Amino acid sequence: MEFSIKSGSPEKQRSACVVVGVFEPRKLTLAAELLDNAAHNHISDIVRRGDMEGKAGSTLLLHNVPGTLCDRVLLVGLGKEKEFGDKEFGDAIRSAVKTLNETGAFDGTVFLTETSVRKRTCAWRVRQAAIVAQETVYRFDQYKSKKDKVRRPLRKLTFIVDRRNELAAAEEALKQGQAIAEGMSLAKDLGNLPPNVCNPAHLAETARELANEHKIDCQIIERDEMADLGMHSLLAVARGSHQPPKLIVLHYRGGKADDKPVVLVGKGITFDTGGISLKPAPEMDEMKYDMCGAASVIGTIKAAALLKLPLNLTVIVPASENMPGGSATRPGDIVTSMSGQTIEILNTDAEGRLILCDALTFADRFAPEVLIDIATLTGACVIALGHVASGLYANNDGLARELLHAGDEAHDRAWQMPLWNDYQEALKSPFADMANVGNRAGGSITAACFLARFTKKHSWAHLDIAGTAWKSGVDKGATGRPVSLLVHYLLKRLGLLS
Ligand code: BES
Ligand code: MN
Ligand code: ZN
Repeated sequence: MEFSIKSGSPEKQRSACVVVGVFEPRKLTLAAELLDNAAHNHISDIVRRGDMEGKAGSTLLLHNVPGTLCDRVLLVGLGKEKEFGDKEFGDAIRSAVKTLNETGAFDGTVFLTETSVRKRTCAWRVRQAAIVAQETVYRFDQYKSKKDKVRRPLRKLTFIVDRRNELAAAEEALKQGQAIAEGMSLAKDLGNLPPNVCNPAHLAETARELANEHKIDCQIIERDEMADLGMHSLLAVARGSHQPPKLIVLHYRGGKADDKPVVLVGKGITFDTGGISLKPAPEMDEMKYDMCGAASVIGTIKAAALLKLPLNLTVIVPASENMPGGSATRPGDIVTSMSGQTIEILNTDAEGRLILCDALTFADRFAPEVLIDIATLTGACVIALGHVASGLYANNDGLARELLHAGDEAHDRAWQMPLWNDYQEALKSPFADMANVGNRAGGSITAACFLARFTKKHSWAHLDIAGTAWKSGVDKGATGRPVSLLVHYLLKRLGLLS
């Protein structure tokens, strides 16, 4: 979709559809009032008759509104003005775009970006509107032989800002929003692809293509070289599969040569059967999403490259399947990780931490300024936080605060969980330096504690996105989270958020 920014009054827009908001109960926003004045109370009459109460999520499409230059007017209910916050703003944009897409309008001029949102700037509203709009029109139908084609799809959206002096900041925010949306869309595509297509080789190929299109270096490390590097924990996970594992390394160098990089590590299990500790059958198809951490860091480096951000960013993806098989790792096997620490693998379904620990040790060689891993790591995190917040762990409070703030700003939120040493007890093993699982209690925390043993040298954070990376049910699919959080974090570091 194409986007642009403008300022102006609603009655003067030559557009297929002008979109204005109505608060509950029946309170016109400024733009709706301007239209109403030009239309000699046409809109307030309709509202008074009870056809638009202003309830959140409701819409009403009007044709031939007198006194205007547009073909249609779309009224969007915004809910109560006092309660209009980040979520409500996103919901309003979503229902506007959804309804526009169902009309014959090729383009829309959206005044909702004029409406103030608590604590938020005009730039924030534009950035968020672009992300949500793109999200609303996203489809994954490449495997449908009959696609449900929209007859006249929405092609162009214009967002209105109320003051001319905000245009420059809004233009910048629009670019950021579009880049974030592109990163999210790539992450969603990778997540939604079936696991027979999106295997470790496919992730590596996608990374290589992305690197060729942008100023990014790409290195793919194969099984033999992993063995030479001593990555026996990662290799233990790949043993059961016929698909060879890949370690994908991407460098985006937008900063000075000696700027230390931000290093992002993403879990890339392209299918998680559990291995010998086999998972139960129901919903096992969803374990194709177990590479969404990988997808999110690849999406993030794409957004950084699109925005030509002045920083160095390294992305590391350990990619593997987790399958049972004649050569698969057995519960009880002991392996030596790249760090030299030994691990007793008690449960082959706790494989994420086994591939991540070697990738995190490998990150040492890039001397990270900060090190952040992103992983669909534990079902326990879904129990703790549901599908709203990602679990955040960090060994540095400043870094934790920055990531929490970025998540809040992006409406892609995280919630901090404890990494106290008391939880480390659960990982004790009588035979090796550690076990790969504790008991069921605090499962997301003990997984993070496991990773913490490999990142002591760095300012490190871990995002458990098991509950936020995809949606189940009828409209199941990858969400593209936490690309927006991560890009907001980078933008904020660079002082580029307004
Ligand atoms: N990929 C799963 C985590 C997961 C489970 C994400 C359900 C989303 C929904 C991970 O590899 C896993 O299987 N974790 C185990 C750990 C356990 C064996 C300690 C889990 O959460 O059950
Ligand atoms: Mn697993
Ligand atoms: Zn997994």
